[in-house]
Amino acid sequence: MNKSLRKAIIAGNWKMNKTRPEAKELLEAIKPLVADAKDVEVIACVPFTNLETAVNVTAGSNVKIGAENVHFEKSGAFTGEISADMLTELGVEYVVIGHSERRQYFGETDETVNKRTKAALAAGLKPIVCVGELLWERECDITEEVIARQIKLDFFGVSAEDIKKSVIAYEPVWAIGTGKTATADQAQEVCAFIRATLAKLYDQATADAVTIQYGGSMNAGNAAELLSKPDVDGGLIGGASLKANDFSVIVHAAVNG
Ligand code: 13P
Repeated sequence: MNKSLRKAIIAGNWKMNKTRPEAKELLEAIKPLVADAKDVEVIACVPFTNLETAVNVTAGSNVKIGAENVHFEKSGAFTGEISADMLTELGVEYVVIGHSERRQYFGETDETVNKRTKAALAAGLKPIVCVGELLWERECDITEEVIARQIKLDFFGVSAEDIKKSVIAYEPVWAIGTGKTATADQAQEVCAFIRATLAKLYDQATADAVTIQYGGSMNAGNAAELLSKPDVDGGLIGGASLKANDFSVIVHAAVNG
């Protein structure tokens, strides 16, 4: 596998954190720290309320902005939801879809992940689609079945051209916010499995072009080892993305990874 076939992508997922002034302060701190990381796509995925501020603060820099969810309909009676067009109109380029917290707390299913992914792509947004097994699924030794099912369902009907615009984040649910990181070998094993699944569903060249991230307690201390693995092309970072210096260390680990 040749890592140079795809872009390293480090994305922060801020989750439900930061008011607008706090968001501005954090992004102002991040910008100069990552300005030299030209070969890495650096993204901050922020709460809806921070998007406009974030797009303005990062204008002209190499930090791109993403949302944390998107609805699949274009408009209509969907109280509390946000459409893909509303995001692109703001200058948002990426969107996290199917995060395990949304699957766990907000009834997200592979079917709705699939609909959101297609809606995002149709509007020109790049989806960061999250997949990952629960601890008991890993203990039952069905990690590969779970991941294959998620990949098949989440990308059902997505063309080869469109999947190349997508990012896949492997986030083992047991590693999120727990301080328990998958070992670099565990992360590599599943990221390679995801690529093999894509090769079966599409073809090898398409699979080789898709950026696959690891997420789950990635931090300044463990990023370099995780990102050195041949199929771990980037990271989706929760807690550590809220600290400018730590986030910058992870971005620079990707430059060298
Ligand atoms: P942590 O990095 O806080 O474990 O969160 C990972 C995550 O859920 C990123 O989407």
